[in-house]
Amino acid sequence: MALKAINPSKTTSWQKLQVHFEQVKGQKMQNLFAADAKRTEKMHVNWQDFCLDYSKNIATDQTIELLLQLAQEMDLKNSIEQLFNGAIINQTEHRAVLHTALRSKQSEPIVIDNQDIIPEIERVKARMKAFSQKIISGQHKGFAGHPITDIVNVGIGGSDLGPAMITEALQFYKNRLNVHFVSNIDGDYIQDLLETLVPETTLFVVVSKTFTTQETLTNANTIKDWFLKSANEKDVSKHFVAVSTNLLKAQEFGIASDNVFPMWDWVGGRFSLWGAVGLSICLSIGYDHFEMLLEGANQMDLHFKNAEFDSNIPVMMALLSIWYNNFFGSQTEAIIPYSQYLHKLVPYLQQGIMESNGKHVGRDAERVTYQTGTIVWGEPGTNSQHAFFQLIHQGTKLIPTDFIGFKKSLHGHKEHHDKLMSNFFAQSEALLMGRPPKLGLTPFKVFEGNKPSNTLLIDKLTPKSLGSLVALYEHKLFVQGVIWNIFSFDQWGVELGKELANSILEEIQTGKLAKHDSSTQFLLNRFLK
Ligand code: F6P
Repeated sequence: MALKAINPSKTTSWQKLQVHFEQVKGQKMQNLFAADAKRTEKMHVNWQDFCLDYSKNIATDQTIELLLQLAQEMDLKNSIEQLFNGAIINQTEHRAVLHTALRSKQSEPIVIDNQDIIPEIERVKARMKAFSQKIISGQHKGFAGHPITDIVNVGIGGSDLGPAMITEALQFYKNRLNVHFVSNIDGDYIQDLLETLVPETTLFVVVSKTFTTQETLTNANTIKDWFLKSANEKDVSKHFVAVSTNLLKAQEFGIASDNVFPMWDWVGGRFSLWGAVGLSICLSIGYDHFEMLLEGANQMDLHFKNAEFDSNIPVMMALLSIWYNNFFGSQTEAIIPYSQYLHKLVPYLQQGIMESNGKHVGRDAERVTYQTGTIVWGEPGTNSQHAFFQLIHQGTKLIPTDFIGFKKSLHGHKEHHDKLMSNFFAQSEALLMGRPPKLGLTPFKVFEGNKPSNTLLIDKLTPKSLGSLVALYEHKLFVQGVIWNIFSFDQWGVELGKELANSILEEIQTGKLAKHDSSTQFLLNRFLK
């Protein structure tokens, strides 16, 4: 089985949406609210402790109906089944896409290459649990007999962003360990970090699916050299573990096979925090909290798989995003979490969304004739209100915005939370209502309003709700990829730059420049002078 190749722009619903767009593009949301007292009642989804209110969108009942028809015509239901069943839907790499299996509770087997993968997933989780408990409890001792105090996750992209984001987001639940992340190859950064660390009490978790990534291996080698200034080769096993599919390369680096936690080809790097890549998360918040994160994601998986599309949070958010991207011509979307703990959520989602859906070739191997991947950006509120919100309110671009907020704070501080959340509600209201021109009001103070937003109001930031939130966006991007008729699970677009960097490195190191375009030639000459 494979995802069907259907050109969305040739479907009846897409064509109807084009006609419909001409009718509604000038509609004022305020009028839609005025004309229908039940609008919000109809346009929201309550699911567990999540509430999605999507009524502040430039969409009528008919828009929603046509978008839902588009999902049907694009074979979405069947595509979702294929995702969960382990069909080879990452066709260009001939791989299944099974991050959902990492958090699955199902007892039926999921078979890849004639093997049920569930027992293997459970074995790895049991190892993660035992290992993290030993480190957290202090039972595991470093080479000088001291418990570990600091963890350094060495990885990049999907081997860094997920664990870094979750670890930050769940600071409230953290234990005594200090967890650090090294990703960039920038030597200045690693130097600064190493100066704060003590080799006797630091554990390094080298995370690389391929174990060939330049940044990660360079950083890991620098760290190992630093470590061996105070310790012996035999001490490496107490201070270095790896997470990888490439056992051989990890061993070549000097990590004993017992210290390698596996990854699998059927989980993409940017979807991998739910497996062994989450080891730093387990170390930071303990295995039980990690389990709750998985539980939350699993609950969202079940919602996505089973809920009717009109009450399916990821599906509705994906369809509305397509509405703006492909009909209104919006190119970007903002995501604004009202929690400082979530300050790494957007960079994390940027990889997930843009690496997945930044594709211009359709599943039929033809260049697409419509826009695909949205550009996502954002920062927590209220900081972002004092930075770029001016442009969302009064700029010339239409930027659909997701507001994510929590009913309860974690530490209390009621006054702070009430103020934070009053800003949360005020922003989407201001975007909707604007401030109309009136006599005596200078045009500079007019807000046109009619700027769309979704509001996700969640009970509380917990490991479980965070798991659901992240899975929501994973599924949203999947739906969009299905509808845009692209392959969301490969990332060939990152390869060319890596290849060129390797050959340029050789030229820099030997001082012998090959022929480049004249700009690059000029810059390299200047660098080498
Ligand atoms: O360059 C992009 C990428 O391939 C990502 O998809 C991946 O998450 C990251 O590099 C890191 O790769 P690895 O885990 O193999 O080091």
